[in-house]
Amino acid sequence: MKPLQIGDLKIKLPVIQGGMGVAISLSGLASAVANEGGVGVISAVAIGMTEPNYEKNFREANKSALRREIRKAKSLTDGVLGVNIMLAVTDYEDMLRIALEEKIDIAFIGAGLFLRIPSSIPDSLLENSKTKFVPKVSSAKAARLIFQYWANKYNSIPDAVVVEGPQAGGHLGFKKNDLENPKYQLPNLITETVAEMVPFEQQFGIEIPVIAAGGIYYGDDIHRIMQLGAKAVKIGTRFVTTHECDAAIEFKESYLASKKEDLTIIDSPVGLPGRVVLNDFVKRIQNGYTKPVKCPWKCLKTCNFREVKYCIAEALFNSARGNMAEGFAFAGTNAYLASKIESVKEIFDNLILEYNSVKNHPVKYKMAI
Ligand SMILES: Cc1cc2nc3c(=O)[nH]c(=O)nc-3n(C[C@H](O)[C@H](O)[C@H](O)COP(=O)(O)O)c2cc1C
Repeated sequence: MKPLQIGDLKIKLPVIQGGMGVAISLSGLASAVANEGGVGVISAVAIGMTEPNYEKNFREANKSALRREIRKAKSLTDGVLGVNIMLAVTDYEDMLRIALEEKIDIAFIGAGLFLRIPSSIPDSLLENSKTKFVPKVSSAKAARLIFQYWANKYNSIPDAVVVEGPQAGGHLGFKKNDLENPKYQLPNLITETVAEMVPFEQQFGIEIPVIAAGGIYYGDDIHRIMQLGAKAVKIGTRFVTTHECDAAIEFKESYLASKKEDLTIIDSPVGLPGRVVLNDFVKRIQNGYTKPVKCPWKCLKTCNFREVKYCIAEALFNSARGNMAEGFAFAGTNAYLASKIESVKEIFDNLILEYNSVKNHPVKYKMAI
């Protein structure tokens, strides 16, 4: 596998671990991935739930927890680290500011169109900043809109782009009816986005790496998607079943116990479809059960907490802490492929092996995408 170059930042292996919230990818998983030569990513969403008494001041808890996890990860690795920040959260600007103050290598910005760096971020933080900005999109059109907007408005562009297809875990940027549509599958999205980036590469004289996410599981998948022009992959699901993943063992075991048909779609209170492992909590919700929501902080811009059936942040944090009876695990379509808990190193060794073997034996390995 060729290293990934994002501007002046060189990443030994083109494998980025997807930011996973709530509290699934913290400093433990992120530092382990960075130590293997990939990019380890801390998920910022509702990260303050890991702080004692977070209910008292959720916003401050989010800030201190993100700062703590970045510092902890940096103390455990000299490798490349990122933070995943969702535009859909109400304290998005705080999270970005902390990430910049802590000099994170890469800020991945998703769940909305990343059209501008917020004006609340002081120039002093941006002037000598080496942080790379990488939006996450679900279509070539969204990528073009973002790059066009930046080019017109700021005469600059983001440093790379992640394109996530409909097989990913977590919230999905597609309508439920489009998830299976061949038009929206990852290989098409990558081909289209790579083509959309060409004029911007010419205008600015730089290479814009297109990073593929959603359904990448084996090294073969990496090889195949790179043939279409992707320069790296972003993998979430496969890194959940590792010793280093920050989730409770019950969360990881729900992957090990899952069958292909258990990977199911829910209508999340956020207003998007989300892919989860089917369990009793999900079945209860689907059958009309509602869990009253006390919401002292309103973490999501789009969540109408007076009307939702349950609090998604609470359900996700419960499962991250092992209380699967009161929550569920987000998971990609390939979660059922895991049969044991492994180390991050074992996963990297296997990805490299699978990637290299497929080069010589194109049909040897199963294709997850
Ligand atoms: C358990 C889990 C939690 C996730 N949480 C988030 C999140 O909070 N924010 C986000 O932008 N993406 C989230 N994702 C998406 C990942 O960052 C990544 O893009 C995705 O997992 C890639 O697809 P894959 O799971 O098929 O590898 C999550 C994915 C999983 C599996």
